[in-house]
Amino acid sequence: MNILHVSCSPRGPASESSRLARNIIERLLNREPSALVVTRLVSGENLPHVDGSYATSQQSTADVSEGGSLALSDQLIAEVEQADVLVISTPMHNFSLPSALKAWIDHVARVRRTFTISAQGKTALLPDRPVFIAIASGGRFSGERARQPDYLTPYLRDVLNMIGLHDLRLFSVQGTAMGPQAIDEARNQADEALHAHFASSRHA
Ligand SMILES: Cc1cc2nc3c(=O)[nH]c(=O)nc-3n(C[C@H](O)[C@H](O)[C@H](O)COP(=O)(O)O)c2cc1C
Repeated sequence: MNILHVSCSPRGPASESSRLARNIIERLLNREPSALVVTRLVSGENLPHVDGSYATSQQSTADVSEGGSLALSDQLIAEVEQADVLVISTPMHNFSLPSALKAWIDHVARVRRTFTISAQGKTALLPDRPVFIAIASGGRFSGERARQPDYLTPYLRDVLNMIGLHDLRLFSVQGTAMGPQAIDEARNQADEALHAHFASSRHA
């Protein structure tokens, strides 16, 4: 089994979303000790945005198929194609996704490679596979105590569905800015949710 971890927090070892992802990966490795984990760091300077060659290649009349950031896009798409399971760990930034994760999505959601467009709309080209999404947020964005909108999870659902990834499993540590007690509570809730998930599913 190949596990691709797309890691989006700029906070290094202090990151709660990375901690949650490690917890998920550990459980996957318990199931499948020989699994290979590939980590793709996309935070900060680790991943450039798509460039002009890439943007031109996305036009319907384009005959450009190489150059610029297309090679990087090819590599990132290959990493997804080779993965049996994806783990995306991300902070919530301004009610939504960090620009680093958006940059990764712009490389991977590529017309004629991972989806096509016709008069009927967009058709996904990637086969489905499990995608664990590990989110950390300073405040709460779901449940009764949520006090802010959530554009992160609906967006990820729509864009991952667009390329063929429908089997999404969302886990979160919410309230990381609310002090150590809130963090402990959120970590425990995430642990319980993960435990329940892995207890109820025989496969990844
Ligand atoms: C630029 C920026 C924007 C943020 N926006 C939000 C937000 O809209 N809602 C929220 O709950 N937390 C927000 N936060 C807090 C982070 O989500 C929180 O610190 C989280 O724990 C970061 O994830 P990490 O621990 O994996 O690094 C923001 C943080 C930064 C740096």
